[in-house]
Amino acid sequence: MPGPASPALGLETARQLSARVIPIEFKRFPDGESYIRFTEEVKGENVTIIQTTGPPQDTNLIQLLLLLKTAKDLGAKSITAVVPYFAYARQSKRSRTGECASAEVVVNLIECAGTDRFITVNTHSPDILEWFKIPVENLSAITLLANFFKQQGLEGAFSFAPDDGALNLAKEGDRVLKGGYGCLDKMRNILTGEIDVVEKEFNVKNRDVVVFDDIVSTGATMQTAVKILKTQKARRVYTACVHPIFAEGAFERILSAGAEGVVGTDCVSDKVNIVSVAPIIVEALQRLSRD
Ligand code: R5P
Repeated sequence: MPGPASPALGLETARQLSARVIPIEFKRFPDGESYIRFTEEVKGENVTIIQTTGPPQDTNLIQLLLLLKTAKDLGAKSITAVVPYFAYARQSKRSRTGECASAEVVVNLIECAGTDRFITVNTHSPDILEWFKIPVENLSAITLLANFFKQQGLEGAFSFAPDDGALNLAKEGDRVLKGGYGCLDKMRNILTGEIDVVEKEFNVKNRDVVVFDDIVSTGATMQTAVKILKTQKARRVYTACVHPIFAEGAFERILSAGAEGVVGTDCVSDKVNIVSVAPIIVEALQRLSRD
């Protein structure tokens, strides 16, 4: 069942699974509240709800909870929540006294709504998934992204991560592109958001590079990485992200640093949705239904 935030991905996943699609009547009240209504019976059915929680995060999250709880109330046999972008995952711990560990709150809400299984894609903080008591899957879209670049003739490109937290993504990209990998040492000031990097040389001179990251939000992280790679005489630098959150100006910021292009997945709807994650969601749902 495609939620209002993931209509295209939801329909494509259902098409690949040859699954019945239950149309949801959806509207917003004049004051902004969401309304949802299931237009067909789900009693006794195994229901999968596909709803991302990218911007506007709070609205999409509430709609997800409304969908989950309604499926439960209407007697669904099992409910699988597929949440390609897991909002609040970056707020996984209390960095400053008194802060809310928001990710834990979101985990509790999803579980309380009656979810039996939870599937997400490249969540920023996999550790938060341990807070779920239900079975969870954290899929990776990096191989899909790397294959996209391979098909574009970039086999042998250097796989790069803009910080050590994304190093595993660069390693995964390298398993497809096979041109080596590396990462920046990045530090972000938690108050100002400003980024500092440790100077380091990479084996990128006259070479093509693909920078992999989980999220692009302001684009500042990618911009920094692209600038450094270009300063080190990389030939062409491409950027790839799983979750194109794209705050205003992010796309332009990355291109102005000298990137050839920005490729994202449909985990979040945006103009850079070039690679669909439907195949990995389908594979996971098929695997789980066999277990
Ligand atoms: C941070 O560790 C994440 O992996 C991303 O690098 C970060 O969220 C990107 O944010 P921005 O585009 O605002 O620099």
